[in-house]
Amino acid sequence: MNPEDVKKVGVIGCGIMGSGIVEVCAKAGAEVTYVEIDDTSVDRGRAAIEKSLGRAVDKGKLSDEDRTGLLAGIHGTTDIHEVEGSDLVIEAVTENLDVKLNIFRTLDSITRDDVVLATNTSSLPVIQLAAATKRQDKVVGMHFFNPPPVMKLLELVRTLATSDETMEFAHAYGERIGKTTVVAKDRAGFIVNYLLSAYLNAAVRMYEEGFASAEDIDTAIKLGLGHPMGPLELLDLIGFDTMLSVSDVLYDEFRTQEFAAPPLARRMVQAGRLGRKSGRGFYDYSK
Ligand code: CAA
Repeated sequence: MNPEDVKKVGVIGCGIMGSGIVEVCAKAGAEVTYVEIDDTSVDRGRAAIEKSLGRAVDKGKLSDEDRTGLLAGIHGTTDIHEVEGSDLVIEAVTENLDVKLNIFRTLDSITRDDVVLATNTSSLPVIQLAAATKRQDKVVGMHFFNPPPVMKLLELVRTLATSDETMEFAHAYGERIGKTTVVAKDRAGFIVNYLLSAYLNAAVRMYEEGFASAEDIDTAIKLGLGHPMGPLELLDLIGFDTMLSVSDVLYDEFRTQEFAAPPLARRMVQAGRLGRKSGRGFYDYSK
């Protein structure tokens, strides 16, 4: 399939990443159907998309008319069968292998045989998802970065079974939605999270061992290395739950110390201090 033939996109999951992916695909001209687990989550996803588009309108980057048009082409549902007519499906649910496996089995049975099934997993083996389908050659990792409407990178993950045709399609579709693609092997963490996980774990360990305050660690990295965010601010943006599951998967795969999540990261998740999405992480976002 050519990327210009992608008229309908299905997105499974409409959280931080899913809602951004819906927005990006809609802006590239597709009708998008997203699937969430319940009505509250469907509404929350739509509110996130509306907020992001509203910000674009306020900044003069999008007209009111275009926003209305985009929103009219975005449909949320709790019924995964509604993505059956899609020309491409991108899965962006929580990092839970069993949940993703069920979704891939269902997608394989309801979508046309020629449809590429992509996963936005940040660390899980893409081949395991492919193996749950009868179209292993058409399963690929399309890993977006948070926030998807802003971050220019799209990591493409090629499994042992992904065909050249699928890779060409994923690359061309990535370009169509305004992203620059890089290709990574199907190894935990791909390129970015392999490096990022070790770095963020080290930052939490530094804080835990009292090297410096959270604010000073963040300021040092922003001003000393020119990063837009310090590591602890970035953890709050990504979410401690997401980063912990990435670290756990990397540790399982490579068994090296840099991927062993520090106890504080686990305690933060257990305390529900997930970062911006829960109102509190290293910093307080409740106000
Ligand atoms: N949706 C749409 N646009 C957004 C946005 C969103 N959610 N958030 C920010 N923007 C836009 C703003 O409208 C603004 O646009 P203009 O410059 O054209 O006006 C621009 O992005 C900058 O935003 P702000 O001025 O509000 O704030 P900022 O300058 O502090 O930038 C940031 C915010 C883009 C998030 C920046 O701090 C940044 O790049 N941080 C690093 C993010 C990062 O590293 N992401 C990767 C995380 S790792 C990951 O995602 C992988 C994984 O699997 C865990």
